Amino acid sequence: MVKLTIDGKAIESKEGKTIIQAASDNNIVIPTLCYNEELTPTGSCRVCVVEVIADGVSTLVSSCDTPVKEGIEVYTNSENAIKARKYAIQMLYSQNSEAPAIRALAGKYNITEKLPVEESECIGCGRCYKVCSEVVERKCIDMSVGGLSNMNEKLSVKWNFDNCIACGACAYVCPTHAVSIHDEDGVRTMITPNAKHEFSMKKCSDCGKYYAPNVQIEWMKEKTGLSDDKFDRCMDCR
Ligand code: SF4
Ligand code: SF4
Ligand code: FES
Repeated sequence: MVKLTIDGKAIESKEGKTIIQAASDNNIVIPTLCYNEELTPTGSCRVCVVEVIADGVSTLVSSCDTPVKEGIEVYTNSENAIKARKYAIQMLYSQNSEAPAIRALAGKYNITEKLPVEESECIGCGRCYKVCSEVVERKCIDMSVGGLSNMNEKLSVKWNFDNCIACGACAYVCPTHAVSIHDEDGVRTMITPNAKHEFSMKKCSDCGKYYAPNVQIEWMKEKTGLSDDKFDRCMDCR
């Protein structure tokens, strides 16, 4: 176990846990945007920034990807931490002031002014990349480091649909709706920040409703080893 303090509270945490996990275990809430506890962190948005004092030296770190260490003092709302967090939120707000998650953070920290940066629906959080590679295990999304945003390097994501099963997990975790899926007339359309792709869907043999993309059904057949006829009908008609 590792002993540390968070906001003056002495706590013990398992080695290997991150600061945000240790805080959460002790009911201390740190704001986040790119973090998703089911995925490994990208540490890209810096909203979760905290001040850490170790051996008398103060540093600002993102709490979602920084492990706890013996003897550190963590301050989640010190003047330095708040200043850095506000700047990170202002950067996000300047890129995309429409996303509800960003608007909520901006409202909480009284941010109304934008910085002169390029506006973009995608804020490069990397969640889509993580879910596709770590959960769905299809690795359809490339993530690379793009331009600088002063505080940290901005990530950019790019889709390769060859391996995509149109499951929609990337759209589900996207905090800004920069990725979305739409089903219409037997076609699932995926709209991503830099490309759009259409997938044909399978029709239920009973009710006639289109219920899943064909590529996804092929993937399920492969995963489960079940015969073709098991996928003839939608969930409601099975
Ligand atoms: S829809 Fe495609 S890109 Fe998105 S998570 Fe699923 S397989 Fe990956
Ligand atoms: S598309 Fe969405 S999930 Fe992916 S990096 Fe951009 S904002 Fe994040
Ligand atoms: S929530 Fe930690 S860097 Fe985004």
